[in-house]
Amino acid sequence: MSSEIGNKLKVSLFGESHGRGTGVVIDGFPSGIRIDDEKLLSFTARRRPGRDKTSTARREDDIPEVLSGILAGVTCGTPIAAVIKNTDQHSGDYKNISHEARPGHADYTGFVKYRGYNDVRGGGHFSARITAPLVFAGGLCLQYLEQRGIYIGAHLASVAGIKDEKFDPCRVTKEELLSPGHKKFPVIDDEAGEMMREEIEKARLDGDSVGGIVEVAATGLPAGLGSPIFDTVEGRLSYGYYGIPAVKGVSFGAGFGASAMRGSENNDEFYMEDEVVRTRTNNHGGILGGITSGMPVTAMIAFKPTPSISKPQNTVDYVENKDTVISIKGRHDPCVAVRAVPVVEAVTAVVLMDMLLEEGIF
Ligand SMILES: Cc1cc2nc3c(=O)[nH]c(=O)nc-3n(C[C@H](O)[C@H](O)[C@H](O)COP(=O)(O)O)c2cc1C
Repeated sequence: MSSEIGNKLKVSLFGESHGRGTGVVIDGFPSGIRIDDEKLLSFTARRRPGRDKTSTARREDDIPEVLSGILAGVTCGTPIAAVIKNTDQHSGDYKNISHEARPGHADYTGFVKYRGYNDVRGGGHFSARITAPLVFAGGLCLQYLEQRGIYIGAHLASVAGIKDEKFDPCRVTKEELLSPGHKKFPVIDDEAGEMMREEIEKARLDGDSVGGIVEVAATGLPAGLGSPIFDTVEGRLSYGYYGIPAVKGVSFGAGFGASAMRGSENNDEFYMEDEVVRTRTNNHGGILGGITSGMPVTAMIAFKPTPSISKPQNTVDYVENKDTVISIKGRHDPCVAVRAVPVVEAVTAVVLMDMLLEEGIF
């Protein structure tokens, strides 16, 4: 089941970019959980296109229509189903590229995989439209986790090499975690954010795109979550993150940087604080042996530049089997990492809630 994630909390996604809509079925969500509708809608709105000029010009309200599983604002315990209708699709933009492989996109591999029967319009099932119902599911999980003192927040750690500040890896507060998400452009340092926006705009005017990195952190997790060898917290989260379109790298704590350190520098010394075991630094990103240590879980998720760019590029027509040149029309995000910030939060929430339920912690 390639479009489903989770063991105890199963989240199953469906839909295509230019079909009637996308949606999700969530099985295993506990009963009796009060859902704040306004909060849920403002979370899903953060992923919506057209909020800022750094995103695609496609306009979608992305209001989820809940079909089942929530009654009078409280979860029933039965499967929660929701659909998000597509309202602003321009399939005509894709007519001339339907057999021309967009470099960096999944047109060619999708054609091979599905023997040409997949809906290629707007990227079909490969489109980031599929992240709309994922964010809806994540929004529910975030509320469940917050009601239990677990907070998840993310921000743009870098765009085109321009860096934001980082979360304090040991002492990030709930307010610090959630603050970037309340801004139109999700960064900690607004000056760095302005420089990022300028780079994105430059790329857009050049008919090009840029990549970026999203930093995410989760606080309030108990120590002891996760199991070696393959059900590690890193493994389970990475599995979820790599489901997000355009993700090309995931690291935890000091990540690749740890390889350049000495043990004495990388090791996080333990100490006791109010009878709780803590570490003075957090190069381990809150995970040791695949198991949470009780320190914040921190990760970096790298997004490649948007594949669809209007600059002419060499490619092939995979039906005619000939070389050709493509210039991509349509409305595309010049930097997918911007709208991916709530998607990363959503995936983090879905995976951690599933693991907590599975291990009987809640
Ligand atoms: C929030 C978000 C928005 C995206 N918007 C676009 C877009 O406008 N145009 C595009 O070509 N790719 C976009 N992508 C990326 C493609 O969906 C992705 O690169 C493609 O499906 C191929 O998958 P891969 O990059 O994981 O190999 C977006 C990704 C995300 C997460």
